[in-house]
Amino acid sequence: MKSYDNVFVMDHPLIQHKLTFLRSVDTGTKEFRELVSEIATLMCYEATRDLPLMDVETVTPMQKTTTKVIAGRKLAFVPILRAGLGMVDGMLNLVPSAKVGHIGLYRDHDTLKPVEYYNKLPQDITERDVIVLDPMLATGGSAMDAITLVKRSHPKSIKFLCIIAAPEGLEVLTKTHPDVQIYCAAVDEKLNENGYILPGLGDAGDRIFGTL
Ligand code: PRP
Ligand code: URA
Repeated sequence: MKSYDNVFVMDHPLIQHKLTFLRSVDTGTKEFRELVSEIATLMCYEATRDLPLMDVETVTPMQKTTTKVIAGRKLAFVPILRAGLGMVDGMLNLVPSAKVGHIGLYRDHDTLKPVEYYNKLPQDITERDVIVLDPMLATGGSAMDAITLVKRSHPKSIKFLCIIAAPEGLEVLTKTHPDVQIYCAAVDEKLNENGYILPGLGDAGDRIFGTL
C-alpha cells in the first residue's frame, strides 16, 4: 500500500477479527449491523486519541487530587446516508454528547457520481470537530463531496472514518482534502468495473438495511 501522512489504518486485532465476519457472505443483516456498530466504537476510540485534556480538582473518598477531563472539545458526527447511519450508534456509545448531522448522497449506478439529496448539519458546527462517517471509500466521490459540503459550514476540523478503503478512493481523497485525516480498518486491493471494492464486503447500505 502507498503510504500517506494523513491516512491511518487501524490494525487492532479486535477490529481485524470483526472485519473478517463483516466481509463474509454468510453474515446476515442483524449480525452485519451489529458488527458495523462495534467496529465504529473501536475506531472511535482510536480516532479520538488526540482530544486534548485539562486538569480538574477531584475529591476521592480518600483525598483531594488533580485528574484529567476532555478540554471542552465538542464533536459532531456526520454520517453519509444511508450506510454511514450504521456507524452512528457505535460512535455515540463513546461520545454521547456529540451532535449528529446528516448528508444524503447516493452513487448514480451508471456514472458512479454522487447525487446529493439531504444536508442537515448542527447549527453550532463552527464550534465543533467533525468526524464524517461512511463504511466504504470506493472511488472517493461520495466522501469528497460530503467533506466539501461540511467545509462550507466551517467546522473547527474534519476527520473521515471508514471501514474499508480502496486505493483509488484514498488517492482522490488525500489529493482533494489533504487537510483531512482519514481513518480506516483496511485498504483493499482495487475497484471492479462497477466501482465495487475487491475483495470488499459488497454493498454496505444494502447489507445494513437488508435491501439486497
Ligand atoms: C456507498 C457507500 C458510500 C459510497 C462509496 O453508498 O456507502 O457512500 O457508496 O462509493 P464512492 O466512494 O465511489 O462514492 P451508496 O451510493 O451505495 O448509497 P447507500 O449508502 O444509500 O446504499
Ligand atoms: N459502496 C459499497 O457499499 N460497496 C462498495 O464496494 C463500493 C461502494
